[in-house]
Amino acid sequence: MNHHTLADAMTDKGNFTVTKLSESNMGYGMLSVFLGLLLEVSTHGPHAVPRTSWRHQELELMEFSEPGISNYSTLLLSNERDALYVGAREAIFELSKKNVTVRNHKVLWQVGETPIAMCTLKGKSKETDCLNYIRVLQVADDQRLYVCGTHAFQPQCDYLTLADFSLEGRAEDGRGKCSFDPSQSFTTIMVDGELYSGTAYNFLGSEPIISRYSPSPYLLRTEYSTSWLNEPSFVFADVIREGENPTDGEDDKIYYFFTEVSVEYEFFGNLLIPRVARVCKGDQGGQRTLQKKWTSFLKAKLVCSMPELNFVFNVVHDVFILKAAHLRDTVIYGVFTSQWGNVGLSAVCAYNMSAVDEVFSKGKYMQKATVEQSHTKWVRYNGVTPSPRPGACINSRMRQQNITSSLHLPDKTLQFVKDHPLLEDPVLPIGNRPRLITKNVNYTQVVVERVRTLDGSIFDVIFTGTDKGVLHKSVVLGEEVHMVEEIQLLKNSEPIKNLVLSSETQSLYAGSDSGVVQSPTAFCRNYQSCDDCILARDPYCAWEPHTARCVKISDTPSQQLRGLIQSLSGDADKCPKAPIVPLKDYQRVSVKPGSSAELPCLVRSNMAQVTWRSNGSLLTEASPFHFIRENGLLIYSVASLDQGLYECWSVEFVAGVGKNFTRLLAGYVLTLEVSQTATTRQSQEITRSVEGKVEADRVLISAFAPPSFTPAVQLTSPPRSSLTPTSGTDQPPEQQVPPKSDAPEAEYLQHGNGTALLFLFLLFFLLFLAAVAYNCYMQYLPAPCLHLRAALLGTHKKSDAARPEYSACEAGLMETPVVSDKIAAKERPAQNSSQNLRALRDTGYETEPECSNGRVPSHTFADESPPPQKPFDVDCDSQSIQFADADEPYC
Ligand SMILES: *[C@@H]1O[C@H](CO)[C@@H](O)[C@H](O)[C@H]1NC(C)=O
Ligand SMILES: *[C@@H]1O[C@H](CO)[C@@H](O)[C@H](O)[C@H]1NC(C)=O
Ligand SMILES: *[C@@H]1O[C@H](CO)[C@@H](O)[C@H](O)[C@H]1NC(C)=O
Ligand SMILES: *[C@@H]1O[C@H](CO)[C@@H](O)[C@H](O)[C@H]1NC(C)=O
Ligand SMILES: *[C@@H]1O[C@H](CO)[C@@H](O)[C@H](O)[C@H]1NC(C)=O
Ligand SMILES: *[C@@H]1O[C@H](CO)[C@@H](O)[C@H](O)[C@H]1NC(C)=O
Repeated sequence: MNHHTLADAMTDKGNFTVTKLSESNMGYGMLSVFLGLLLEVSTHGPHAVPRTSWRHQELELMEFSEPGISNYSTLLLSNERDALYVGAREAIFELSKKNVTVRNHKVLWQVGETPIAMCTLKGKSKETDCLNYIRVLQVADDQRLYVCGTHAFQPQCDYLTLADFSLEGRAEDGRGKCSFDPSQSFTTIMVDGELYSGTAYNFLGSEPIISRYSPSPYLLRTEYSTSWLNEPSFVFADVIREGENPTDGEDDKIYYFFTEVSVEYEFFGNLLIPRVARVCKGDQGGQRTLQKKWTSFLKAKLVCSMPELNFVFNVVHDVFILKAAHLRDTVIYGVFTSQWGNVGLSAVCAYNMSAVDEVFSKGKYMQKATVEQSHTKWVRYNGVTPSPRPGACINSRMRQQNITSSLHLPDKTLQFVKDHPLLEDPVLPIGNRPRLITKNVNYTQVVVERVRTLDGSIFDVIFTGTDKGVLHKSVVLGEEVHMVEEIQLLKNSEPIKNLVLSSETQSLYAGSDSGVVQSPTAFCRNYQSCDDCILARDPYCAWEPHTARCVKISDTPSQQLRGLIQSLSGDADKCPKAPIVPLKDYQRVSVKPGSSAELPCLVRSNMAQVTWRSNGSLLTEASPFHFIRENGLLIYSVASLDQGLYECWSVEFVAGVGKNFTRLLAGYVLTLEVSQTATTRQSQEITRSVEGKVEADRVLISAFAPPSFTPAVQLTSPPRSSLTPTSGTDQPPEQQVPPKSDAPEAEYLQHGNGTALLFLFLLFFLLFLAAVAYNCYMQYLPAPCLHLRAALLGTHKKSDAARPEYSACEAGLMETPVVSDKIAAKERPAQNSSQNLRALRDTGYETEPECSNGRVPSHTFADESPPPQKPFDVDCDSQSIQFADADEPYC
């Protein structure tokens, strides 16, 4: 790692120039890890994938919104009452905490004519900006809430009486407590009746301030200086109490989290830096120096980076402090992205509260130094620091020196902290790397709950909200973090603006522009089998073997807890052994010969691999007639040989136990439709004949719920066009061919003269096509034909041309039959009767012009043999240059 220079930053937009900071005046330590190869990270970096994905409609979520009201972005949970207070645009609601669809109270707070007029005069929009966005909701006392709104860019605050849910109407100046601009980020917290906030103090939003408002006559605030705050974007603030018996008489502290423009790094453009700052609750300001200003304001850099990839997440979007009885168990969780949002990565970093405390109480200061006259740099301060330590809270030792309040602090200390608010030592994340990295999301919110499992172990569960209304739930399992599920929490794809968690109701509440959503913290009941319940590795859930249900542990009476099965490592072998699914429970599917069959198989786990078996042997991608798709198996042109047993298996590898868990998800008996009785007989025969072949190890009946699998069988052959592949599963479509086996053929022809006529017509049509194609190939026909040919080739090249038939077909266009046969032989080493039949079906009825082109008249090109060193050689000379396919490497 390069300790004293900034690595050159590179994005896919190009290279940024980063000034190298010389070692002599910069002691950057760990922190010079900087912007790395973003591209490399986004493609090769580790990232979490949610095991299960739930769509909005799949879950029963409770939602609240009212017509005409939007921007439900402020949420406050009441500890004493059954209430969730919601601040929206020009309205405040009291909802039931147990069920947010129940509205208990509502009060409107609109802006008068005059403020609106003044606001529009200043160039703000009357419809959006010049309204009252309720952005502060805090508990003032037992009977009242303190409420602030942007009030048409003239923030105002008022008290809300809870008894009758009305505003007192004694509006006070909200400057410094609430933002002017409804879209500007800011933060507030009420501590012992005093409001702490981080916001802008002016209309333009250019004067940042961290302040405290109290009933006492004056407010305490930050110095207006870029070394204190430099274009900050506040995201969070919270108080850390010292507890009943503070060891050295320390004070309670308020921590602020924000992203600001760095002063200490020189960079091409503004380099953003995530910060943690703190002030002491007992701060009274200084006597002469720092009068009515914080004497305890210090800030440090938060590091959230992947050192091995030299990648830094430098924008913090939200923070949650998971508080514990002891400081060392208190953990700060933050969600970060990179300043260059196009990388599409989000990270969660966790910080040890005692490490943060250590930085503030022992860290080195930075100081501004002037170099080359006008230019200033921030360097480590190596001189003697005054005593008491600048920025420290008043503690027992200071009291012994007769310093009982910040008003008694010596000027030297105060002057020093005024000039040196920035600490050099950074706050490093636990484990020196992000807890979680997720691709293609922008996290906006985070909350964390500490959960006790059945065996008494404790795990942190991280809930992260995205800008697309999705919630991710991850559990920290030591070094590893497992993403349990993702939930489409909001109906629309819009940002989650606020997220709060109540352990009491075991619910999460999300606020967005369009409403409020309440979601349980776990969806245990949705896991249908013991395997699913265990493999989910959800600390909230356990399997109840008697009722065969996945249950939420906290909902289970304590006397029933003993029988429950839980394994956070995901050891599904703990599940009771399920009996083997009898073949009679396999679903019967019968289709007409030549039509296609779709056998559904719903795989809930994004971490499982699906395999299909027919008659007990593995189906591979190589088979041209079987498509293993997301929701099942598609069999094109079912012939008599395709009849048999089909099983959908899921294989899930669990790293925690180092095992593969194999489960049967669906089973089918596929038969050709002959007649009603014949089908039944046939299906019985097949069942009997394959019974022995089925590999049924670890088959779990509970995993296999036949009623839920409804076959979507296309009984009639779809029109030609619908057979043409449209998705990634590209495949030369084929015609319905009378298979060579006897019974189905008879069946097929029984459909009557119409079919026979159609068949004849098709035959002639194909012959005609072959003739056209041949002439086209020989360039007897003019340009349009060649256009078509080039276009067809071009399209096919784009698809994944992994299908052997496909390449054989394409190759057949240019090559000799000898080569073609060789390929065929390579692709099908075991030439059995089935494959011969396939080959027959394959070649006889190709309708794609370029295929018939290659195949039908191929024998006439025998003399155009390619040079032997190029197996797939193309006859470049015979094509005019303008139609030479650009993708063709041999031309
Ligand atoms: C308020 O909500 C609307 C959508 O309803 C959104 O367009 C707008 O940006 C929101 N305003 C703020 C300040 O969040
Ligand atoms: C935080 O650090 C302290 C001291 O190094 C350690 O005892 C504690 O276990 C750490 N806590 C966490 C959550 O990592
Ligand atoms: C603190 O003040 C007391 C009384 O005012 C005085 O007796 C004592 O010497 C002072 N101690 C120090 C360290 O200044
Ligand atoms: C994340 O946010 C950035 C900036 O707003 C945006 O450009 C990007 O498309 C977003 N990415 C995703 C995956 O939503
Ligand atoms: C499965 O076995 C049956 C009976 O032996 C056979 O008719 C059928 O062709 C086989 N199907 C497949 C796909 O191998
Ligand atoms: C688990 O299965 C995968 C493929 O399904 C295989 O590659 C892997 O080796 C297996 N691992 C173990 C430990 O059996």
